[in-house]
Amino acid sequence: MWTKESLHEFIREKMGDYLFIVVSNREPYVHLYKKGKIEYIRGAGGVVTALDPVMQACRGLWVVNGSGEADRKVTDGQGKIAVPPDNPSYTLKRIWLTKEEENGYYYGYSNEAIWPLCHMAFQRPVFRSEDWEYYQQVNKKFAKAIMDEVGDKKAFIWIQDYHFCLLPKYLKEMAPNQLIIAHFWHIPWPGYEAFSICPQRKEILDGLLANDLLGFHIRCHCDNFFSAVDREIESKIDRERFSVVRGGHETIIRPYPISVDFQGISSVVESQKVAQAMDALKEEFQLSGCRLLLGIDRIDYTKGIPERMAGIDRLLEKHPEYKEKIVFLQVGEISRLHIPRYKALNDEINALVEQINWKHSTGMWKPIIMIRRHMSFSELLALNRLCDVAVVSSLHDGMNLVAKEFVSSRVDNQGVLVLSEFTGASRELTDAILINPFDRDQVAEGLFTALELSAEDAQKRMVKMRNIVELNNIFRWAGKAISELLKFEFKE
Ligand code: G6P
Repeated sequence: MWTKESLHEFIREKMGDYLFIVVSNREPYVHLYKKGKIEYIRGAGGVVTALDPVMQACRGLWVVNGSGEADRKVTDGQGKIAVPPDNPSYTLKRIWLTKEEENGYYYGYSNEAIWPLCHMAFQRPVFRSEDWEYYQQVNKKFAKAIMDEVGDKKAFIWIQDYHFCLLPKYLKEMAPNQLIIAHFWHIPWPGYEAFSICPQRKEILDGLLANDLLGFHIRCHCDNFFSAVDREIESKIDRERFSVVRGGHETIIRPYPISVDFQGISSVVESQKVAQAMDALKEEFQLSGCRLLLGIDRIDYTKGIPERMAGIDRLLEKHPEYKEKIVFLQVGEISRLHIPRYKALNDEINALVEQINWKHSTGMWKPIIMIRRHMSFSELLALNRLCDVAVVSSLHDGMNLVAKEFVSSRVDNQGVLVLSEFTGASRELTDAILINPFDRDQVAEGLFTALELSAEDAQKRMVKMRNIVELNNIFRWAGKAISELLKFEFKE
């Protein structure tokens, strides 16, 4: 089985004189001012959850967008800082973006164009030519910063996600023979009809085909990518090798289902810190006496949060006997708030919570508690431990690591997972209660089934899911992708 130690050994032995560089937009540690003092928090989302343990094992350089208000204060003249801050094992290099770049590249093209384009959540993408200009500019800025680090050395570059479709091409243009480049696409890749509306589709494909290796979570996203290439770009698709050859350059396409640090989470869950957080949260939210349903998400329209609340509403309509017996706690991490759709979703969720609570509340009891403050990792794990049912109802999700974190947290083999069939995770976690979040009756039915499941049945399901996540852990994900990368240098 792959472990943090075996990945570390593997990298040490095989990397030779290559630099190991990871690139993503979001950073794993964000420095902020709190009451005049500098503190740091964990960055939001699946990319940092997955990559931070990998980097702790691989010990390379991670290049990111420096987004925290106190980020500059703690870095050196090259934007570098050793992390994790409490026990450093790798280097973070922060790139500084202007407000205009942040607006055009991050809020605009990445999150108002590509994000809705790739998720089947029926949110119309917005393609602004000025955003595209900034997207190109920032991709170039990252390419230059990376090459400043690489100099005339050789390097493996591992790019993360949809913020950097053009980066592989810019890098290869700057240094055709020194770099081996892989790219992991953390979100779904849409079917061709959906993709074809993108005015910059050819440039995006052209940029991605400069990679040596391109990874998606599941086979179906690889197939969708092949269809897009087939329809848009002059190239040779090799179905045997599962690759695309364009202008003499081959890009290998592979599915790698991403995961979490199962062992790491399991051991933190048993720490004193999490035990204390469990007591404090029980007290703060008066959780004793009710069975707890839990949702942990970034506030994002792809996560199906209103749909999940509609399911709670329906459950209580159909089974009023559950009043005063359950409470649904939603942790909502604010995300991308400068985009109007996110602001509207936030308002929609607030209104729904109020409406459903008003409809069903009795005396002191109300069915939904919405938590908006930032929660530490220990607190999130404590909630995972405390809950009876975890609910993941994404309308479309590349993988969804919240589901895998929940499973990894349940060292007691208890708790039930209700999981949307439109997540990548549902392909592996088939012992969850699977639901279609677009169908409110089905969501309610799924929640009811989870609540009624016998302890024995719930335990059997949890044990099976834990075995799957333990085996297919994040170090295996990284180990498999890096092994594939190594083949480019050391041909078999
Ligand atoms: C998704 C994306 C990540 C992103 C995360 C959080 O998981 O795939 O690339 O980092 O959302 O979103 P944010 O915009 O806050 O980085």
